[in-house]
Amino acid sequence: MTQEEVFKNLTAHCKEYGFVFQSSEIYDGLSAVYDYGQMGVELKNNIKKYWWDAMTRLNENIVGIDSAIFMHPRIWEASGHVGAFNDPLIDNKDSKKRYRADVLLEEYLAKLEEKMNKEVEKGKRKFGESFNEEQFRATNPNILRTKTKYDEVHGRMVAALEANDLNALRQLIIDCEIACPISGTKNWTEVRQFNLMFSTQLGNISGEDGTIYLRPETAQGIFVNFLNVQKTGRMKIPFGIAQIGKAFRNEIVARQFIFRMREFEQMEMQFFVRPGEELEWFKKWKETRLAWHKTIGLGDEKYRFHDHDKLAHYANAATDIEFEFPFGFKELEGVHSRTDFDLGNHQKFSGRKIQYFDPEKNESYVPYVIETSIGLDRCFLAVLSSAYCEEALENGETRVVLRIPAPLAPVKVAVLPLVKKDGLPEKAREIMDDMKYLFNCQYDEKDSIGKRYRRQDAIGTPFCVTIDHDTLKDNCVTIRYRDTMEQERVPISSLHSIIDEKVSIRSLLAKLR
Ligand code: GAP
Repeated sequence: MTQEEVFKNLTAHCKEYGFVFQSSEIYDGLSAVYDYGQMGVELKNNIKKYWWDAMTRLNENIVGIDSAIFMHPRIWEASGHVGAFNDPLIDNKDSKKRYRADVLLEEYLAKLEEKMNKEVEKGKRKFGESFNEEQFRATNPNILRTKTKYDEVHGRMVAALEANDLNALRQLIIDCEIACPISGTKNWTEVRQFNLMFSTQLGNISGEDGTIYLRPETAQGIFVNFLNVQKTGRMKIPFGIAQIGKAFRNEIVARQFIFRMREFEQMEMQFFVRPGEELEWFKKWKETRLAWHKTIGLGDEKYRFHDHDKLAHYANAATDIEFEFPFGFKELEGVHSRTDFDLGNHQKFSGRKIQYFDPEKNESYVPYVIETSIGLDRCFLAVLSSAYCEEALENGETRVVLRIPAPLAPVKVAVLPLVKKDGLPEKAREIMDDMKYLFNCQYDEKDSIGKRYRRQDAIGTPFCVTIDHDTLKDNCVTIRYRDTMEQERVPISSLHSIIDEKVSIRSLLAKLR
C-alpha cells in the first residue's frame, strides 16, 4: 500500500472511531475546519498535558497564561501582521481554482528533486555494492541537468519572494510551464497578496472603526502580558510564559487533513533573556524541544531540524523541527530567536515602557525572546499517523491497531466481562469503579471477546482486562497487551501498578530529566 493510501485510510479511520470529524458535516462541511470527537479530544488533552507539564512543572521559571482571542487591533500593526502576514495568491482562469504561487513553485521543485532521487535509485540498482551516491550525484548528466534547472528556479523564487516581486513570481510560473492540476491549462491571473488574518467587527458604535482580528498566533497574547506576569509573578530573567490556545489563519491552500487548518491550536512559549545571551538559549531550546518530541516514542529517525537560511526581519536564528508525515518531512514546530522585535514594537506602538530592570546588571533593557511554537493539531497528526497500522495476523485475519504511546492513548483500560451473566458484569463494574478514578476506562460487554479486542485495538487502548468465571474464585483477571496481543493472568490487586507505570504522563516527564 502506498503512503497516500495509508493516509486516506487513516483519515477514514479517524472519522469511523470518533477522533476527527469534518466541521459542519451535515451541511456538507466547512473547508479546512475540523472537530475533534470523543476519542480525539482525549488524545489532544493528553498531548496538551504533556506539553504544559513539561513547560510549567519541570521549569520553575516558566509560568502559563490564557489570554483572550480578541485583542486590540493595534497589536497586529505592532507585530507586523497587518502589513506583512500575506501569502501570494494566483488563480487559474479556467478552473477558477486558487493557489499559493510559492506553493505551486515548491511543488514544481519537489518534482525535480524526486526526478533526481529516482535517478539515484536507478544507479543504486545498477552498481550495487560499489555505488557511491555523492560521486554519482556529482557526475551523472541527467542529475546535473535537473540540478541546474532546480538551482535556477529555486534562486529566482527566493529572489522574487525576498523582493516581494509578484510579477517575477508569475513569470516564473509561466516559464516553468506549470499547469493547473484541475483544468490542465496555464491560463493564470496576476499574483496578488492575500492577508491571512480573519477580521470581524467589535460592537456597533457608529462612526468608529471596530475592525478586530482573530489572532493568527497565540504569541502576541504573551508579549502584551509580559509586564503583568513579570511584576505579579516576581519573575526574574531568564523566564518563560507558556500558552495553549486557538489561532486562526485564512489559509489559501488548506489540505492534508488537519495539517493545515483555518482554525487550529498552538502551544507556544516565549522565553525572555538578556540581550546577547539569546543564541545560547536558542541552542538550548532547540535541543530541549527535540528531546520532548523524541520522548513521545514515535521513532527518533522521524525528526530532523531544518535551520532557516532566510530569516524573518525580526529573527537572528530560526529552525523548524520537521516530522516525517506520510506525505514527507514537514514542519511540526518552530524555534525562533525573535530578538527584542515584539516587545520593542509594543513599547513603541503602545507608548508604555516595556522593560526589565536587571538587579544583577543594575540596568533596564527590553528583553530578547526565544520562542518555541508547536501546532497541537500537527502533533496529533504525527502521533496518529505513526500509530496507525494495518497488521496481518498469523491466522490470516488483519487487524487495524493504533499503537499510540500509552501515556497519550485516549482510553487506557477496557474492562470486559467474558459473558453478560453469572455475576461477571457485576465483578467487572466493581473493578471499573475502582480504576476509573485513576485511568480513563471503557466498559464493554457487547459481542464476542475477539470483536471487543479489535474495537479497542482500533482506538489504541493499551490494556484490556477480561473478567471470567475463575475471577470470582481467585480474584485474578486476564490482562491483554495491545501491541503484542499477549495475555497474562494477574491478581486484581496488581492492576493499578501494572497499568499506572505505563500510562501516566509522569512516566514521559521523568524521561526528560
Ligand atoms: N508564533 C510563531 C508562529 O506562529 P508559525 O511557524 O507560523 O509560527 C507555528 O506557526 C506552528 O503552528 C507551526 O510549526 C505549525 O505546527 C502550526 N501551524 C501553523 N499554521 C498552521 C495551520 N494552518 N494549521 C495547523 N497548524 C498550523
